Amino acid sequence: MILSIESSCDDSSIAITKIATKEILYHKKISQEEEHSVYGGVVPELASRLHAVALPKILAETTPYFDQLKAVAVTNQPGLGVTLLEGIAMAKTLAMLQGIPLIAVHHLKAHIYSLFIEKETIFPLLVLLISGGHTQVIRVSSFEQMEILATSMDDSVGESFDKCAKMMGLGYPGGPLIEALAKEGNEDRFDLPVPLRNSPLIAFSLSGLKNAVRLKVEALGGAEAMSHQDRADLSASFQKAITRHLIQKSKKIFASESIGDFAIVGGASANGYIREAYASLCEAFGKRMHLAPLHYCADNAAMVGRYALDAYAKEVFIAPNQLDSTTTKKQKAGMLL
Ligand code: KG4
Ligand code: ZN
Repeated sequence: MILSIESSCDDSSIAITKIATKEILYHKKISQEEEHSVYGGVVPELASRLHAVALPKILAETTPYFDQLKAVAVTNQPGLGVTLLEGIAMAKTLAMLQGIPLIAVHHLKAHIYSLFIEKETIFPLLVLLISGGHTQVIRVSSFEQMEILATSMDDSVGESFDKCAKMMGLGYPGGPLIEALAKEGNEDRFDLPVPLRNSPLIAFSLSGLKNAVRLKVEALGGAEAMSHQDRADLSASFQKAITRHLIQKSKKIFASESIGDFAIVGGASANGYIREAYASLCEAFGKRMHLAPLHYCADNAAMVGRYALDAYAKEVFIAPNQLDSTTTKKQKAGMLL
């Protein structure tokens, strides 16, 4: 079995995965959404302290599996440095005490592997990753080869939902709140700009749209002065603009990529409106669409464990004294995962 740990942001999670069958034998996640909600976003120092309490609490439930562990896996990047280190320290200690190998897991690769939990892998695969920290289209050729085809030049999709929700005084995380409100709203009431609409660039940009939402909130007299209907209409209009932007740029990529399998992963892939828009796009292009189950879209240790199964089979291990929460230069340049 492999024990996997996730602490890259505001979710403390541990899973136990059976190597022979890929089965999840144990999975638990403690989210900190409520604690961060009052601040309208994640406070790293607070998140780190909450992990320091939650992770050992979860780990205590997994001690019956300790004798059968063959490896320990942990998310080491990208994420919040101070929260990643909570999981990393725990993983190193466990690996050293049990005398078993340690596996470093890239968080975005883990999101991609959320598609394969208790399943076989699908390669090649075209992936749209939309999370709180990233917005990318990735060509996934194999475990080793993942190439970024398009990325956001500024904010990510999840972050935009969160920031717009904060502007409207809705709380955190903004994605589910905006999606729910949008169901009651008129998406044509506010004319928001679809980013990079006339640009040939195959990239994403969301800061302009966020600014446009801010101006609408101001024009309505600020968050407190807005009525429930105002919030619902602005949520719907924002969700429509962001989805149009994603679809417009994805269309260009679909036109030049012959890969028949496409997937959306990351926290924002739970969004039903975005899912529906992509289902139509895939139909038009004759691509098969894949999604992770809703409960594995947001951060979790099960996806870390699924990636670790492949790393274990390929013996991709790291020495405890080599493991840090770092990103390589190549990855920083954004060309490769
Ligand atoms: O993947 P994730 O759990 O964490 C990161 O790796 O960042 O993604 C969290 C993000 C948050 O910004 C949250 O607002 C967004 O996913 N999200 C959504 C929805 N559910 C979560 N965004 C839009 N619609 C949703 N239904
Ligand atoms: Zn994530």
